[in-house]
Amino acid sequence: MSGPHLHPAPGRRWQAGSLRLRFLCAILLWVAIGIGGIWYSATRVFARHIELQYHDELYGHVRELADLVTETGDGHLRLMRPLSDPRFLEPLGGFYWQVTVDKGDTLRSGSLTRGALDDNVAHSPQVFHAVDSGPTGPAITYGFTRLTSDRRVIHYVIATDKRYLDQAIAGFTVELSVWLVVLAIALIGTGLLAIAFALRPLDRLVLAVAALRDGRGEPLQGRYPDEIAPLVSDLNAYVAENRAIIERSRVQAGNLAHSLRTPLAVITDEAETLAGDPQTRAQGNVLLQQAEAMAQQIDYQLARARSGAAARTSGRSSPLPDVIAPVLSAMGRLHRDKLFRLQLPPDFTAKVAVDPVDLAELLSILLDNAGKWARTAVTVTIDRHPAQVRLRIADDGPGMTAEQIATACAIGTRFDPAMPGSGLGLAIARDIAEGWGITLNLTCADADGAQAGGLVAELLIPA
Ligand SMILES: Nc1ncnc2c1ncn2[C@@H]1O[C@H](COP(=O)(O)OP(=O)(O)OP(=O)(O)O)[C@@H](O)[C@H]1O
Ligand SMILES: [Mg+2]
Repeated sequence: MSGPHLHPAPGRRWQAGSLRLRFLCAILLWVAIGIGGIWYSATRVFARHIELQYHDELYGHVRELADLVTETGDGHLRLMRPLSDPRFLEPLGGFYWQVTVDKGDTLRSGSLTRGALDDNVAHSPQVFHAVDSGPTGPAITYGFTRLTSDRRVIHYVIATDKRYLDQAIAGFTVELSVWLVVLAIALIGTGLLAIAFALRPLDRLVLAVAALRDGRGEPLQGRYPDEIAPLVSDLNAYVAENRAIIERSRVQAGNLAHSLRTPLAVITDEAETLAGDPQTRAQGNVLLQQAEAMAQQIDYQLARARSGAAARTSGRSSPLPDVIAPVLSAMGRLHRDKLFRLQLPPDFTAKVAVDPVDLAELLSILLDNAGKWARTAVTVTIDRHPAQVRLRIADDGPGMTAEQIATACAIGTRFDPAMPGSGLGLAIARDIAEGWGITLNLTCADADGAQAGGLVAELLIPA
């Protein structure tokens, strides 16, 4: 008997341990390493490159400055013409120069309207550079010395605010980061598409296996990639083999039960003869009882083999009012003097996760009992709950006591010898209910005060 089973719903596909999640983690790691690596190396290379260019420029400026300064005849210094870069004229604009002679003049750029540059960096005829504090924040300074004709030292200093360099690097880093984020999103997006594309055959396989369990589509249909095609064909072979084995065992069980019937009839016959003779009455009655118990077991096994065989070929979900209607009308014909009523909420439809053949058999058993013992009417009510459908079959007959209810589902139990029956109905009903995860409750209507007397069989069926 196939029980209820859950197939992965779309939301459950990304659960911990799923292939999708593994692929996603791999892609995220891959993108993080790739994008992070590009970001780090590109910002480093750019910063180095722009720094070199910046320093080159400053070196050029300090040399230019030295070439533009000349000595006048009276030992003073004079700038022949302004520096080529006009930024040295903008007051406190961040570009400065200064020329000092020991015990003599100091010349300053037009931009240096306040303060002075530290000429420590200009301490040798070789060009040196340093980061000093300038008039408008930290500055990169370049400087060197020359001698005047009367052997005094001239200090040439050029300074540029460091923030210009920092701003250029920061601007580049921000722009690069934006582009890399866009690239990362595009990579992850295409990664997700790739996952969906690569795992599509597995999704198809899941659906095909679900169809197989539902009794549709057998064997597994469709073409699968080379990696899972062997799995599919093995699964098909396994299912076919399994099915054949189950079928064979079922036929054998049926045959065995059948073949026992005739000898059992002979034994019953002999037992009746013995029971008719006053001398052997006691032994005869024991034999009769045992033979009856054996006959019940045989009938039960035959009934289970038959209903199991039917379930194999039908589906795993039943539309609710549709399955009940034919059973109800059949019961109406079988118990002509009883009224069968169906009470549904307006516009009620529901699908329950139970094979329709099994469900119809379960309902037939309970409705047949209700029809047998009802005085006038049997009422079926159905209502929906979030995860299940509740179905109640109530009759207005004598009902059962609590002790009777406790044993009613055992094979061969009967409490009313006047009524025909084999005592197997409830045993089979309980079996079917257990196989499909249905809760079967028998109560007496007395107990919950809904009706006078009568049995209520309640089914809680998974939706
Ligand atoms: N609706 C009911 N009202 C009163 N008693 C019931 C009702 N349903 C079942 N019973 C009692 O429970 C016993 C067992 O029921 P069960 O369906 O297993 O057997 P049966 O109806 O006697 O025989 P079978 O269904 O195999 O033909 C019945 O014999 C009867 O005494
Ligand atoms: Mg019955």
